[in-house]
Amino acid sequence: MTQTPPPGVERNAAPLLHGTEADALATVLPGGQWGHGPATDQFEAGIADLIGVNDAVAVNSGTTALHLALRSVGIGPGDDVIVPSLTFCASVQAITWNGASPRFAEIDPDTLAVTADTVLEALTPQTKAVMPVLYGGRAVDLSPIRDELARRGIQIIEDAAHAFGSRHPDGTMVGAVPGVLTCFSHDPIKNLTTGQGGTIIPRSRTEANNLRSLRLFGIVQSKDARASLTSYEVQGPGMRFDMSQLNAAIGLAQLEHFTEVAALRQHLWRTYQAELDGLDGVQLVDVDVANTVPFNCVVRLNRDRDKVFHYLRERNIGVAVHYPPNHTQPGFSAWRRNLPVTDRVAGQILGLPFHPAMTYDSARYAVATLAEAIKATA
Ligand SMILES: Cc1ncc(COP(=O)(O)O)c(C=O)c1O
Repeated sequence: MTQTPPPGVERNAAPLLHGTEADALATVLPGGQWGHGPATDQFEAGIADLIGVNDAVAVNSGTTALHLALRSVGIGPGDDVIVPSLTFCASVQAITWNGASPRFAEIDPDTLAVTADTVLEALTPQTKAVMPVLYGGRAVDLSPIRDELARRGIQIIEDAAHAFGSRHPDGTMVGAVPGVLTCFSHDPIKNLTTGQGGTIIPRSRTEANNLRSLRLFGIVQSKDARASLTSYEVQGPGMRFDMSQLNAAIGLAQLEHFTEVAALRQHLWRTYQAELDGLDGVQLVDVDVANTVPFNCVVRLNRDRDKVFHYLRERNIGVAVHYPPNHTQPGFSAWRRNLPVTDRVAGQILGLPFHPAMTYDSARYAVATLAEAIKATA
């Protein structure tokens, strides 16, 4: 292809700036209080409102959200947490950093997510939590086994890093399913960014208070209240895991345009779907676009994926592989299992350029170059 690549196609993922982020930062910069503050509280309220829940607890990353959520339900040494191997290593590190063991589960090759059956297959007597990863933004339905898990005292803590704004097919927002603790990421390329950050959607006010204490030193009094006190009370463990006002200000500016970005992402995904239709040897991973704010656009190739990847990279197409599986990582070798479906799928997946800062023409160009790559590497 000799045509100049259209803008944005060279990047796999990128944030879309709306032009209001700098002004939002300017409102919090002069105050000099850049840690947790009113902008953070406002951001939490905005998230809770959008999801239709009572509380949202903002933290400094999606990884921290997972780590704290696990800790808040008492996961620690001797406990197994079921997690797909095909996820970003952050999901697994949040488990191991709490001293617990990841128990890797298989996935459905069509959605790249765990199912009720693959979770049941992975259960052990030590299982204390299940961490489904909402790959590409698609909701994961564990309702068929929710009662069984509850009976065994197993918690569901969702890694919804990809899934901010998505719904279940019955219309329930991800984050609003009773009994499920949900964690979002707001890193620069996620559906809603704060620059860096995350939120946990707690299941009760008590859980919210506990998470707020864990995220900021275990101190009872707010920063404002402490200004007029000569002491404060530390009620338990805590770290500095709060979301700064600087990040919250960016998040508030982005939140104003979330509906628009969600529609852009859905339209971009549908553009890919139409362009990929009929392309031999390529299967689109189904995100259930009607209910999902897609985070990515991933295909499975029945060709030599690595050759296609390099062909496209050499032509400046921002393809990426999300993710190399975790059960074969040296750092997780203690928890290695035989996972044939994951092994097979991990060699087939290819993420196409996908972000709201690119044009629909860029998607068409990416698919045309993919078609060329498939021919050239057959
Ligand atoms: C599936 C998954 N889980 C967790 C995370 C961690 O989120 P963060 O980068 O905000 O720490 C990411 C982010 O890349 C992710 O993709």
